[in-house]
Formats: sequence, structure tokens, C-alpha cells
Amino acid sequence: MGQQMSELILQVNGLETEFDTDEGKIKILHGVNFDVYAGRTLGLVGESGCGKSVTAMSIMGLLPKPYGQITAGVIDYRGTDLATLPAQQMYKIRGNRISMIFQDPMTALNPVHSIGRQLMEVLALHQAGMSKVQQREAALALMEKVKIPMPERRLDEYPHNLSGGMRQRVMIAMALACKPDILICDEPTTALDVTVQASILELMNGLQAETGMAMIFITHDLGVVAEMCDEVAVMYQGGSSNTPMFSTCLTARNTLTPGTF
Ligand SMILES: Nc1ncnc2c1ncn2[C@@H]1O[C@H](COP(=O)(O)OP(=O)(O)OP(=O)(O)O)[C@@H](O)[C@H]1O
Ligand SMILES: [Mg+2]
Repeated sequence: MGQQMSELILQVNGLETEFDTDEGKIKILHGVNFDVYAGRTLGLVGESGCGKSVTAMSIMGLLPKPYGQITAGVIDYRGTDLATLPAQQMYKIRGNRISMIFQDPMTALNPVHSIGRQLMEVLALHQAGMSKVQQREAALALMEKVKIPMPERRLDEYPHNLSGGMRQRVMIAMALACKPDILICDEPTTALDVTVQASILELMNGLQAETGMAMIFITHDLGVVAEMCDEVAVMYQGGSSNTPMFSTCLTARNTLTPGTF
């Protein structure tokens, strides 16, 4: 599918984010720019500390309060500026229209609740009026969707019973529960070994093809970029753009190799 045929659903323009620290205000993002299209994956790459996660937190409205704030720029999501959206309305978009998965699923999963309970809680949040039986059926369907072996049994297990790869699949299931338009993935496979990483990436590509969601894929791994991304924005010292240098990526999914860079 060509870029021209995909709908532009998120446009980040001139985004600046600051943190208030003991040493005063520090500007972390100095004008971040990129476009995200439906059904396509934007890779967000750049050296450690350049602001990739802060960019994701800015989009999600998850900057640490009160000292993290957006000071300039626009995050245009389907005509709504998320940069200035009141928290009350952002709450409806976060985890609903835009979801996120993190590098370490253990920090996002609750260790004392079963996998099934956590999935059912997310489902209840997004689809009011479901009975417990319906919630459990929907949770099971999500477990099947992310290809967790023996899904029924896993629902009654706890995060520590699962392997790292399976936990990440549970996180993906939770992120998909609300059928998001955009899925932000912050280094989702970095902590996994190579074969598990490959199967998770394949799963995510398949889910994207099925759902048509857009993805923002944060990674420092150019092999992953080649595998996953249609466009690439390179961040350096808090700025970024979809650089022309990477324009070959527009058609080169699955054909680029790290050597190409
Ligand atoms: N809560 C915070 N308070 C103050 N400064 C922060 C906070 N979180 C991040 N920073 C600073 O913001 C800058 C960007 O951090 P960020 O985590 O976005 O980098 P990154 O590109 O995601 O790096 P990595 O690839 O290592 O994950 C860094 O200088 C970091 O120290
Ligand atoms: Mg980061």
C-alpha cells in the first residue's frame, strides 16, 4: 500500500517538552516532527537519552506530573491536539484510541493478580456492560489472538508463571483489548532473546495487517527497523524528522538490511 493511499492519523509538529528539575527547567525535546499513517509503522530511532521515551510519554499524556510538560508544538490526532487536551479528555484517548506497550512487561503487569483478571479489568474499562462470563470469553479470545499456548490455563496463572515472551504477548493482548488506532511500542522486544523477539515481531506484523492499526516502533535495533518499519524518524538531541535519507524505507519493508544504513 502506498503512503499516499494511507490516512494520516497522527502528526507531531515542533513538539517541545521540558522537565522542571532541581537545577531549573531542562528542555528535553527541541522540536520533534513526524507523521504516522494508518496501517503503517513509523520507526523512532536514535541514541540513548535523545528523548524517544519522552516523546512517547508526551503523546500518551503520561509525562510525570507536575514537573514534565509540553511547552510548544502540536500533536494532531485526527484533528484533536493532544498537546493541549485536558487530562479528562486525554484519559478517554489513552489506552482506548492510542495504546502503548513497554520494554519490560513485569513493570506493567500486576504480580498479585492472575493474567485473566488483569485482561478482564482492561476489557471492563473499555466495554461497559459485559458480564463476567463475556469478559472471560473475550480475554480468552485475546489470548488466542496473541498465540499464547494453552490460553485457558494461562488465564488462571500469574505473571511470574509466564516466560518473558509470553508476558510480552499478554501486554500486546491488553494493548489490543480496546482496538487502538495507534499502538506505541517502546523497545518491546529488547529484553527478549533473538528467537522469541522474532516471533513477537511476526505476531505484531500479523496483527497490524489484520487490524489496520498504525504503530510507532521505538528501537535502537536497525534489524528490527528493517523488519517492522515503513518510515523512520531519526532523533538526535531531542529533535527529529522523517529524514529523506531514509526515504528508501517507504517501500523497502522486509528488504532492508542493517548494512543499508
Ligand atoms: N522523569 C524524568 N525526569 C527528568 N529527566 C528525565 C526524566 N525522564 C527522562 N529524562 C531525561 O530526558 C532525556 C531523554 O530521555 P528518554 O528516556 O526519552 O531517552 P530515550 O531516547 O528513550 O533513551 P533510551 O534509548 O535509553 O531508552 C534524558 O536526558 C533523560 O535523562
Ligand atoms: Mg527509552
